[in-house]
Amino acid sequence: MAPSISPIFDSLDVTNFAVHQGNGVKGLSELGLKTLPKQYIQPLEERMSSMSHIVPESIPIIDMANWDDPKVSDAICDAAEKWGFFQIINHGVPIEVLEDVKKATHRFFGLPAEKKGKYSKENSSTNNVRYGTSFSPLAEKALEWKDYLSLFYVSDHEAAARWPSQCKDQALEFMKRSDDVIRRLLEALIKRLNVKELDETHETLLMGSKRINLNYYPICPNPELTVGVGRHSDVSTLTFLLQDDIGGLYVRKIDDSETWIHVPPINGSIVINVGDALQIMSNGRYKSVEHRVMANGSKNRISVPIFVNPKPSAIIGPLPEVLESGEKPVYKQVLYSDYVKYFFRKGHDGKDTVEFAKI
Ligand code: OGA
Ligand code: NI
Repeated sequence: MAPSISPIFDSLDVTNFAVHQGNGVKGLSELGLKTLPKQYIQPLEERMSSMSHIVPESIPIIDMANWDDPKVSDAICDAAEKWGFFQIINHGVPIEVLEDVKKATHRFFGLPAEKKGKYSKENSSTNNVRYGTSFSPLAEKALEWKDYLSLFYVSDHEAAARWPSQCKDQALEFMKRSDDVIRRLLEALIKRLNVKELDETHETLLMGSKRINLNYYPICPNPELTVGVGRHSDVSTLTFLLQDDIGGLYVRKIDDSETWIHVPPINGSIVINVGDALQIMSNGRYKSVEHRVMANGSKNRISVPIFVNPKPSAIIGPLPEVLESGEKPVYKQVLYSDYVKYFFRKGHDGKDTVEFAKI
């Protein structure tokens, strides 16, 4: 039986309150409602409770302390081929930088709705700063239990002028301090693709733009009926994700589509996943894998992904170096901004976005 709606909602337009007035799901959560508003009820097949298998396996955990060691590069490439997801430890980003950006995330979401609302789609003075809720509320059949602040990096100057003061320094520091290890990861990955070095051309193609999101998943009254984030793969080249100690991120196992694996929080670690752009550029050798976030009934959770992306104006397709040996291209050349537009035009739908680039 569908849960009844709390009386408080008889007079409240939930979508208006959460989406348009800037209260987000954090605002809904703080009303203390006892049942989930119907707009958030996901179809049965999308709920976490109906997932057939959650297995006690682990995605690889890679120690980056000796990142010049070829064994480390091999482990990175193997993980990108076989799992699409791995965690890294001893990656060189100081623990204070991680702690500071987590604190900054709580600080931003702790602001009243009027302040956060200044950065909403309707009100933000720039497209590069966007506060919102769910994923793509106008395109989705059911909403997702998540609020976010999304920051597209253009320059230090622009960030200093436009990003919210509650989090800009910490978000920028996290991005800067992550740059070295991101390059190391990409260098290792492209070597296996027959690319000699991360020269300017490859840099623009693989990491020509960056976006950092601050995600907030508040306590949910009926976590079993909804999702924090629905099934999707990222459209990035690589995603570099910091999560707090709550947990709830699940990854689909390659070649075993009924099986989902939890990504346990490890203090100081960073979760890395291959995105669609790298799957396309590697002609399918590296895999972008479906993942989702479970809503939580008793704890607020945050995460901070850095999406390492091609430039919006880049044309992406299988790299010439990959096809040199005569391998047939599986994907065509697409304008990256078209690919991203296609992603946001629909609700989360697993790995379907990549069809856009299939030959
Ligand atoms: C995402 C995502 C996972 C998380 O933002 O694309 O998958 O743990 N986030 O928040
Ligand atoms: Ni994701």
